[in-house]
Amino acid sequence: MCGIVSYIGYRPAYDVLIKGLKRLEYRGYDSAGLALIDNQGKLNIYKAKGRVSDLENTIKNQDCIGTVGIAHTRWATHGEPSVKNAHPHCSQSGHLTLIHNGIIENYTSIKQHLLEKGFTFKSDTDTEVLVQLIEYKMLTYDLDLVEGTKSALKHVIGAYAIVVLDDRNPSQLVAARKSSPLVIGIGEGQEEYFLASDVTPIVEYTDQVIYLDDERIAVIERGKDLYISDLENHRQIPDIQRIDVELGQIEKGNYSHYMLKEITEQPRVIADCMRGRISPDRKHIILSAVIDYGYLLVKAKRIIIVACGTSWHAGLIGKQLIEEFCRIPVMVEYASEFRYSNPVVGPDDVVIAISQSGETADTLAAVELAKEKGAFIFGICNAVGSSIPRATNTGCYIHVGPEIGVASTKAFTGQVTVLTMFALALGEKLGALDQAKYEEVIAELVTIPEKMKQTIERNEVVKKLSYVFTYARNFIYLGRGYAYPVALEGALKLKEISYIHAEGYPAAEMKHGPIALIDKEMPVVCIATSNGQYEKVISNIQEIKARDGRVIAIVSDSDTQIRKIADDVIDIPSTIECLDPLLTVIPLQILSYYVAVLKGLDVDMPRNLAKSVTVE
Ligand code: AGP
Repeated sequence: MCGIVSYIGYRPAYDVLIKGLKRLEYRGYDSAGLALIDNQGKLNIYKAKGRVSDLENTIKNQDCIGTVGIAHTRWATHGEPSVKNAHPHCSQSGHLTLIHNGIIENYTSIKQHLLEKGFTFKSDTDTEVLVQLIEYKMLTYDLDLVEGTKSALKHVIGAYAIVVLDDRNPSQLVAARKSSPLVIGIGEGQEEYFLASDVTPIVEYTDQVIYLDDERIAVIERGKDLYISDLENHRQIPDIQRIDVELGQIEKGNYSHYMLKEITEQPRVIADCMRGRISPDRKHIILSAVIDYGYLLVKAKRIIIVACGTSWHAGLIGKQLIEEFCRIPVMVEYASEFRYSNPVVGPDDVVIAISQSGETADTLAAVELAKEKGAFIFGICNAVGSSIPRATNTGCYIHVGPEIGVASTKAFTGQVTVLTMFALALGEKLGALDQAKYEEVIAELVTIPEKMKQTIERNEVVKKLSYVFTYARNFIYLGRGYAYPVALEGALKLKEISYIHAEGYPAAEMKHGPIALIDKEMPVVCIATSNGQYEKVISNIQEIKARDGRVIAIVSDSDTQIRKIADDVIDIPSTIECLDPLLTVIPLQILSYYVAVLKGLDVDMPRNLAKSVTVE
């Protein structure tokens, strides 16, 4: 987790760093800090517990001159959030400062070794150990910063994206990565360089970037070519790419929160996600990855989906779509469990990795493991150029634009849209899907953006309901078939931003235990469109009503029965069952949003969370 940003060039570094930290704050926000070297060569370090705005307040009226600096917004892994544990961390001599994203897993043994050599430590972090180790290597073997960093990194087990600054050589930054992301932005005439965890702090200044490869070190000096190599000094020619992100996409605009912006954007971005992938006569899905690798995909005996959190929920919907349209068995695994389960996976399997950020450490590790075992890996990601799409054999971007709110919304609907197109395209290739069904689903899919718009326009009903439920302590979400993963997703949204305990359950499983929880205090959200097991869901609702539960039902416009028995109903436009999740999830996103707002909570940066989980 955590966001890192650094600058070397001719602009006031402070402005670039603070603006960059604000853009990266979604990645971690328990403390922040920065280091700058002023024009006299003096190193100034400022840190604060809390948000980037707290850091700004701390720095007010202090010396923040300088054209080189490094900055960090933290999501603590080792050591509580506090000023002493905030990055940057300094070496014993005070000359080296370092920012780090990741975990140094063997930090205890390195620390012990350094303590024996007379080093002392000021923080409880794993990170401080690394900056001290670099200094130790430089002193002991008379190395410069670059060689000292390489030498130290050879001892490190774990994950890192780091930037190191030596105040004796302020025209140089040294950066390195292993399993944590790092992007380098190249300014005009190489007069300035930017480093960041993602491109958002960079887009304003340049569209030329390099995604640093894993286990590479970069030496960055004003006015000079970049030097990139591995730890064994094999030089690498940098692969400069053009980024295509506009500033408007990463700014909140007139919205009170990114989450609301991202919920509202769904009709447009889902249309973007489908653009060029549905033939103009609406009779075919054109996914280049399926066209190019179809010959391999059709041979799959089994598909295994690996993902975490919301992306895992999308995967559960993907399983139903693929099994329905392709008749290939699908398993959906939590990436974190899969990677340590000694999984039975091999060349007959296709593994689909789903990740908004493309940086989730567990999902990336699951991909690497499955690749080692010979499976073909297909990625479904949002962040272009991120680690997972680069590690997979092929895949599809969801193209919903940067998602900044910690609670994932438009990425979920983007993932489900891509999974739908994938299942249709592969189903057609396999001949598992009859043409009429294929065309029916495509025809309905193209109407989804408009139906999403209608769903969002009805948000007042949901807003009113959220007033009623702000004080609820628990919620249950129920659904069957395609609606079950949506129930899980609705519950996750409420938990993560409203801090209300919520459980998602398959509606029919209620009677095997959880029904004991039902009383008049318990709001139960039932996803009960007119498709699927409609009659059965009605019975499940009756069972809850018979025990005094309060039922909020998400129903199709055309519904006549459930509206008579539920306490509250939220109408959504009718569609076919497999596309229901693209609509039913929206009121659940809106409900959690307004409950959190009414509780006065920080919707975009909920406590204890971070957007991108780049640590295990
Ligand atoms: C979603 O609201 C969460 N914040 C979280 O569960 C997220 O979906 C999960 O960490 C996976 O992230 P990814 O899609 O970027 O891999």
